[in-house]
Amino acid sequence: MLGETVETKMKVRKAVFPAAGLGTRFLPATKAQPKEMLSLVDKPLIQYGVEESIHSGMTNIIIVTGRGKSAIEDHFDVSFELEHLLEKSGKRELLAAVRNISDMIDVSYVRQKEALGLGHAVLRAKELVGDEPFAVVLADDVIDSEIPCLRQLLDVHDFYGASVVALMEVEPSRISAYGVVAADPIAHNGTGDRLYRIHNLVEKPKQGEAPSNLAIIGRYILTPEIFQSIESITPGTNGELQLTDALKHLLRSRPIYGLKFEGTRHDAGDKLGFLKATVEFALQRHDLGGPFREYLKTLSL
Ligand code: G1P
Repeated sequence: MLGETVETKMKVRKAVFPAAGLGTRFLPATKAQPKEMLSLVDKPLIQYGVEESIHSGMTNIIIVTGRGKSAIEDHFDVSFELEHLLEKSGKRELLAAVRNISDMIDVSYVRQKEALGLGHAVLRAKELVGDEPFAVVLADDVIDSEIPCLRQLLDVHDFYGASVVALMEVEPSRISAYGVVAADPIAHNGTGDRLYRIHNLVEKPKQGEAPSNLAIIGRYILTPEIFQSIESITPGTNGELQLTDALKHLLRSRPIYGLKFEGTRHDAGDKLGFLKATVEFALQRHDLGGPFREYLKTLSL
């Protein structure tokens, strides 16, 4: 069913968070702690993604966890002892912050026993997602934007009823770290240079072999046919079941769109990216920004 067909529209309610990776880029911090729990200022990475999902209208979060990831479950669970202590000591703001996390949203978990790739992780969520479109959020891509990135993708999905991935232009020297698309720009919402119709995808191409400089960033809206596509592919780059390869398979029967979203993406799974994100988020904080800026000014750089 190729072509500009507008497919049946369904509200997107569920966001899948693959969180079973080994976090090797951030060792030794991630030896005994999931990388999704690394904290930017005072909130773990995964909470930024969960809040983005909530602000985009999601009502269910599905976290695909692995070994040693129980801190994530505890984080989104009610902490009676902590709440009791904060209540007793009159620390209202902290109490609200802690309660908000568990009140925010309905969170369910599914286990990925082995880290066999992003496609494999998403496939683990098949039963919990069911036959409806859903979002995928990679928590180490932290996106700072006025309109949440997922919301921007959902607006495209609501219009076309098809799968949509987030795109960003990347330097040639960095392109081999990403899924890369070949795509043609299409006019949408008064602009001609943000939305693309994708016609090919390659996971982590070598520099010089990439089909473009448009990289996939960790936000996806996927239609449920993606599950059959993941089941149809064989392991690719790094011997893993790649979501990018499944999207390429899906492209045979369904259109896929890519949106160059508005906002700043931080690769918080990378040490330098994490440091940059920490500085930017700290400077934006009303309680910390002022004194932190003053401190930075004293550094002789
Ligand atoms: C994953 C995807 C890749 C995408 C990237 C975005 O790679 O496989 O297609 O471009 O996320 O962050 P990873 O960073 O897990 O190696």
